[in-house]
Amino acid sequence: MSTNTIDNGRKVTTRRLIEMKQRGEKISMLTAYDYSSAKLIDEAGMDAILVGDSASNVMAGNVTTLPITLDQMIYHAKSVMKGVKRALVVVDLPFGSYQGNSKEALASAIRIMKESHAEAVKIEGGAEIIQSVERILSAGIPVMGHLGLTPQSINKFGTYNVRAREEEEAKKLIADAHLLEDAGCFAIVIEKVPAELAARVASELTIPIIGIGAGGGVDGQVLVMHDMLGINQGFSPRFLRRYANLGDIMKDAFKNYINDVKNSDFPNSSEQY
Ligand code: KIV
Repeated sequence: MSTNTIDNGRKVTTRRLIEMKQRGEKISMLTAYDYSSAKLIDEAGMDAILVGDSASNVMAGNVTTLPITLDQMIYHAKSVMKGVKRALVVVDLPFGSYQGNSKEALASAIRIMKESHAEAVKIEGGAEIIQSVERILSAGIPVMGHLGLTPQSINKFGTYNVRAREEEEAKKLIADAHLLEDAGCFAIVIEKVPAELAARVASELTIPIIGIGAGGGVDGQVLVMHDMLGINQGFSPRFLRRYANLGDIMKDAFKNYINDVKNSDFPNSSEQY
């Protein structure tokens, strides 16, 4: 039975995600950047959809998430919203739209909410960006935190390796998670940290912890759609499970089409007017 049949397609809200944690029901989340994929993901019964700034990598072909702009994030978010009826839609605030200036952070979040009609924003970091988080929350905009590996800070970290293996960084992550919960965030993504640490944070906090490369002891999981479908073939970290190999299926289809066109097999007499 699909999730839609179970809950009659009832809209997922930030409140419902917290209730899911309370009753021990795991939360499913996946990225989407366009109407057609978002519609399929929603119809499959996903709880939440992230319009991630990973669009910078998998849609635009950039090496990092830094180049994507607020206008581009809004374009993707608008497209996704048109395909979604049930899932909660969360949109990443892109690099440069919230750091160091809480007024600008609020203005960016308001543009996302007003122009895309999405339901929440996600923001990377802890104590460093807490003023931005508080100001956005003060306008009634739900905020999802993001700790651990925060790809917008790749130039500071220098690598995409596992974060918070050392005690000092682990302690800061725990403190940041509490800070975000106390500020009023409804959930936190924790990326690529030791499973034990992520499980500890999930057990200490009342808001859901959504993991990516953070083990099974958290309240839910998020993956990047192109990675789990095998469309982004060059990326295979240990935490990634591939649910399909669409890259190969797509390439085969493209090759068959090319052959059919070259051999004049397409279109045939029943495929014309
Ligand atoms: O942008 C994104 O896709 C993300 C996920 C990796 C959590 O932030």
